[in-house]
Amino acid sequence: MSKGLFITFEGGEGCGKTTVIKALVKELEKEGLQALVTREPGGSLIAEQIRNVILDRANTLMDPRTEALLYAASRRQHLVEIVLPALKEGKMVLSDRYLDSSLAYQGVARGIGIEEVFSINKFAIDQTMPDLTFFLDLEPEKGLERIRQHRSDEVNRLDLEKLSFHQKVYEAYKLLAKKYPERIVTIDASMTVEQEVEQIKKVILERYHG
Ligand code: TYD
Repeated sequence: MSKGLFITFEGGEGCGKTTVIKALVKELEKEGLQALVTREPGGSLIAEQIRNVILDRANTLMDPRTEALLYAASRRQHLVEIVLPALKEGKMVLSDRYLDSSLAYQGVARGIGIEEVFSINKFAIDQTMPDLTFFLDLEPEKGLERIRQHRSDEVNRLDLEKLSFHQKVYEAYKLLAKKYPERIVTIDASMTVEQEVEQIKKVILERYHG
């Protein structure tokens, strides 16, 4: 591969990003394409330490701007340590969440404002926008129900937010998908994993060969 491809996956709780990414990697391998899979903070010790502070259930007093700054800091470290070196080597990088998570969760659901959160993230990402973003579109009621069924063991501070918070996140993603139609591709996440992977693979191959 001559040039790296930076692909991010976004969506609300329980939309199935992690499962879809895993299945996608196998499908891409069949096409002879290797991808580096990561997630924020993914494998960077410093970024993970920052993230632990954010997700700690004890930190209920955290100010929304503090949270946004910490996510941006974590993102920066993950970008520099993991994403940029891989892109430089020409790899395809699949990241479970990136910038749009902050725009949706902090910008809209926490009420800071998309532009405000974007501006601190511009400092953090320094022009590294994803080449392609897949928004896994699932209504929050369905996503939260999936979590209740499959993941009762691992509940973090953000999972505990009210349904209204997750509805705001969902509306925010739909808004972002409208705002950046050339970058963000919406995938109906109520389909089977196989169907989702098929659609995603098709778009990636078009971009890759195009
Ligand atoms: P995680 O356990 O990684 O969940 P998921 O499988 O849904 O990605 O927790 C990530 C949580 O952090 C999730 O609720 C979304 C939130 N988040 C933000 O609020 N802002 C951000 O910038 C990022 C990256 C995540």
